[in-house]
Amino acid sequence: MAFDFINAELQKKQVAGYLRRRHCVEYEKDGIICVAGEHYLNFASNDYLGMRQHPGVLQSWVEGLAQFGGGSGASPLVTGYTQAHAALEACLEEHLQREAVLLFNSGFAANQAICQALFHNGGNVLADKYMHASFIDGVLASKAEFKRFRHNDLAHCEALLSGLSGDTLIASESIFSMDGDSAPVGGLVSQSRDSGAWLMLDDAHGFGVLGENGFGVAEHYQLTQQDLPVLMGTFGKAVGTAGAFVAGSQAFIDYLVNHARHYIYSTALPASQAIATLYSLTAISTGDERKTLHENIATFRSLALAQDLQLTESVSAIQPVMCGDPHKALALSEALKQRGIWVPAIRYPTVPKGADRLRITITAQHSARDISVLVDALMLAMEAV
Ligand SMILES: Cc1ncc(COP(=O)(O)O)c(C=O)c1O
Repeated sequence: MAFDFINAELQKKQVAGYLRRRHCVEYEKDGIICVAGEHYLNFASNDYLGMRQHPGVLQSWVEGLAQFGGGSGASPLVTGYTQAHAALEACLEEHLQREAVLLFNSGFAANQAICQALFHNGGNVLADKYMHASFIDGVLASKAEFKRFRHNDLAHCEALLSGLSGDTLIASESIFSMDGDSAPVGGLVSQSRDSGAWLMLDDAHGFGVLGENGFGVAEHYQLTQQDLPVLMGTFGKAVGTAGAFVAGSQAFIDYLVNHARHYIYSTALPASQAIATLYSLTAISTGDERKTLHENIATFRSLALAQDLQLTESVSAIQPVMCGDPHKALALSEALKQRGIWVPAIRYPTVPKGADRLRITITAQHSARDISVLVDALMLAMEAV
């Protein structure tokens, strides 16, 4: 039979504890999700600030639909690029102090586009070992020589840099998606400057949260375009909409417009989505959500540590609880579910083998009581498993 590896692969994953299944969310309100008729406190969302349900974001989205219609109808180089897209790009350019910005349908597409366009003819990429799959796959599909340095290990990065010739990109993430820790940004900026390499940061989990006005890693560390020539951020997490951007020099963005296949050959992000995203950025910069988020993270950490729960160093919204084994991670996730808490088990290959974990995300929507219930449930789940 053709493709008979399919069943064998699924069976293998099931036995190893790595089989993935989807759960259909029936509805969601105020941080509570309903799955298969049961309600759960949601500690699994990347909507760190609760902007997905922000009345102003929803209202502006509806107004955008009335003005521009549902889809964008074409790719950006045809008729899919509108005033709404231009306004969002201009806002990002101003706040990030970049010459130019380009919008993408997703962070996955943006990362792939950066790699494909910059390395169609060779070059070097040095990336942190924990970079997101979208970046890794983008590099692997390009002509770049690819090396990975140990997670957050500047000395290893430096060692790999020496002896490289040609165009080099050093790549890392502002806040790591599965660990919640931060890159050594200052060290990476110095290393790239000293070696003549370009630095790229994927700000998927920092954008909206970091910086005085929520404009992410570049605002937080006051990184100029020279410090950080390639900045990628996403709208699908703290901003609460969807899509992504790349920011840099005018020449770099013009180059992407001409070479990035994910931009040229894909229907543009809907204009209404760009309008809602712009509204969300304004609301984030003036609202209290970031303050509430940081208070909630501190509450979680102090309650958990008081119960002797083993936490990592992460001070971001992403708070992993390490399990070391996929079966244990699944069992803990299930035990939490039985106590009304939704936290996913994150397993290989999303994280390295043996680094299976619960990935708890704290948001501004949680109350102190929700967080206290989570910690109590975690203690009970750990005793039960
Ligand atoms: C670090 C990182 N980069 C890129 C992406 C992809 O972004 P998007 O979900 O917009 O495709 C993600 C999303 O999971 C991510 O965590």
